[in-house]
Amino acid sequence: MRDLLSINDLSKDDALEILDTAVQLAALSDSSNRKFPTLRGRTVVNLFFEDSTRTRISFEAAAKRLSADVINFSAKGSSVSKGESLKDTALTLQAMGADAVIIRHGASGAPAQLARKRWIDGAVINAGDGTHEHPTQALLDAFTIRRHLMQDKGDLAGLKIAIVGDVLHSRVARSNVLLLQKLGAKVFLVAPPTLLPVGVEHWGAQINFSIDEVISECDAVMMLRVQKERMEDLFFPSEREYARNFGLNAARIAAMKGSAIVMHPGPMNRGLEITAEGADSKKSVIVEQVANGVSVRMAVLYLLIGGATSRDLTAQIGEH
Ligand code: NCD
Repeated sequence: MRDLLSINDLSKDDALEILDTAVQLAALSDSSNRKFPTLRGRTVVNLFFEDSTRTRISFEAAAKRLSADVINFSAKGSSVSKGESLKDTALTLQAMGADAVIIRHGASGAPAQLARKRWIDGAVINAGDGTHEHPTQALLDAFTIRRHLMQDKGDLAGLKIAIVGDVLHSRVARSNVLLLQKLGAKVFLVAPPTLLPVGVEHWGAQINFSIDEVISECDAVMMLRVQKERMEDLFFPSEREYARNFGLNAARIAAMKGSAIVMHPGPMNRGLEITAEGADSKKSVIVEQVANGVSVRMAVLYLLIGGATSRDLTAQIGEH
């Protein structure tokens, strides 16, 4: 694998290799040895055309823990036409010798364009493109689910996972539906009809318009942010009504299975898709998702540009 643009780029075995490598890296990060020499001398560029806090910082932490040099390129606000500005930026990064470019862009398909035109030689990693995909978010979500419910082993067969809310605008939902199903889980998409994309019936997931119909049978409930910045029209009558019909509140948490977990990719709209009780409940693994993101992104960088397989990592760990 050369780039990571979509979950479709990964076979089930590729995905499991990333998760297994992340498990090993997480174990190492817990010990006193938090820095690995693996990517010394390599340059990783964070190319962010859209706002981001956790994803950018997470990739930066991941690259630094592997000893790579990191350049943060915040390209937001450029007024040059998109195709051209992307090309010019890419040529600059190529001149700097970027081994990996982590790109977030408001336009769906921008990372694929960067990769396909090969304006740069380095690996292209999609950190969220428009409403299309966010593959490392799905990988860190799968890692978190596997850690809590499958003891870090194997796939997610037998699990039921609900993805609730603004599916229409969510690249996190798209990548998660692809990955969770690839790993054998059953996925429920729960949203008002106005927040479901055309063609969603072909995604393979079960569609529900009521969270209360599915919440008690799910092993994980993944809440999505209502993406107000991508909404030009009115998609629901009022925030109050949305919160009442689709928000994760204390009563709904109480209806969940004892072992079930609550997830959210962040940033949260507290009081809209999730109440404070939901976000801070014992079932919430939201803060852990952030920590797991670093291990998963380390694994992706390691496997893409470390010139290694997870087996080499086992050998390296053995030497410590
Ligand atoms: C997500 C994103 O940017 O797509 N956030 C993230 O990466 N942590 C989800 C969101 O913004 O709602």
